[in-house]
Amino acid sequence: EKGTYPHYMLKEIDEQPLVMRKIIQKYQNGNGELTIDPEIIAAMNDADRIYIIAAGTSYHAGLVGKQFIEKLAKIPVEVHISSEFGYNMPMLSEKPLFIFITQSGETADSRAVLVQVKEMGYKAITITNVQGSTLSREADYTLLLHAGPEIAVASTKAYTAQLAVLVILAEVTAKSRGMEPNFNLVRELGIIANAMEVLCDEKEEFESIAREFLTVTRNAFFIGRGIDFYVGLEGALKLKEISYIQAEGFAGGELKHGTIALIEEGTPVIAIATQENVNLGIRGNVKEVVARGAYPCIISMKGLESEGDTFVIPEVHELLTPLISVLPLQLISYYAALHRECDVDKPRNLAKSVTVE
Ligand code: F6R
Repeated sequence: EKGTYPHYMLKEIDEQPLVMRKIIQKYQNGNGELTIDPEIIAAMNDADRIYIIAAGTSYHAGLVGKQFIEKLAKIPVEVHISSEFGYNMPMLSEKPLFIFITQSGETADSRAVLVQVKEMGYKAITITNVQGSTLSREADYTLLLHAGPEIAVASTKAYTAQLAVLVILAEVTAKSRGMEPNFNLVRELGIIANAMEVLCDEKEEFESIAREFLTVTRNAFFIGRGIDFYVGLEGALKLKEISYIQAEGFAGGELKHGTIALIEEGTPVIAIATQENVNLGIRGNVKEVVARGAYPCIISMKGLESEGDTFVIPEVHELLTPLISVLPLQLISYYAALHRECDVDKPRNLAKSVTVE
């Protein structure tokens, strides 16, 4: 039940710190170490390449998950949109392992690929929020999100839960390969949960950012570099699906190769700047669009902020920033939809689980 909340979406955004803590608890053993079913870790280690298959927001989580697995466990990963993969299959490696990311566990496009790769004799893991769902039953292994039911059509807490489970999977796999721990992940995820709480307490701020940047516009751009680019894709999807503002996520450096033609006087450009190695680059891209009249909304991270940034998120580990930087985008999208009097929980033309191909 949504209780005192006006919408499920807002309730589910607010639940994210709790979900983080629940995931830490569910994936910890008695000694407080993160743990995953040894059979799953064995499957990870048997693979010479991992194929992540998903749709929509879950696909965006997969893009970040690739960074986690490649950077921490050093296994190559490809991420594919499920509706494309079936008929346009890439050349597979000798020992592929498939990971399906699906909140509902019922997405027909993803299931079609699962059926196909099982027929080919390959192993599959499903990361899902719904125990006993179709993709959970039909895969060899399941990792649960423990996010509680997600009712709003726009996915929020499932995305951050997917990222948390993916990073735990990556780090536990790395450990099994004898790699030095990259960080104390339990501690870092605790920091994430606290930072999420800080952001959830800033709702008025995000409401006013939404009012300032998105009340009248017909379009909006989200730009970022590296991992921030993937968060931008998710921010754009969130905004367009509930507010009907045409929104695009772009790699910061790619905009100038054509799309910059769409920047007009007052076009909102939301830039995400949480990565030290590309901070100069993304700020250069902001200057490029501002020179064409864009109205920039810069969301940066503490330690990398510049004067005039619109919002500065608390500092977290640089690999884990998507778990935090997506919250302002979720909240800004929510308020933009509200200000434009859209049906936040049930946007037009959409269903919570897409059970047709
Ligand atoms: C976006 C959204 C959709 C789903 C997509 C996949 O907010 O909810 O893009 O992410 O339909 O759904 P699942 O994860 O259930 O397979």
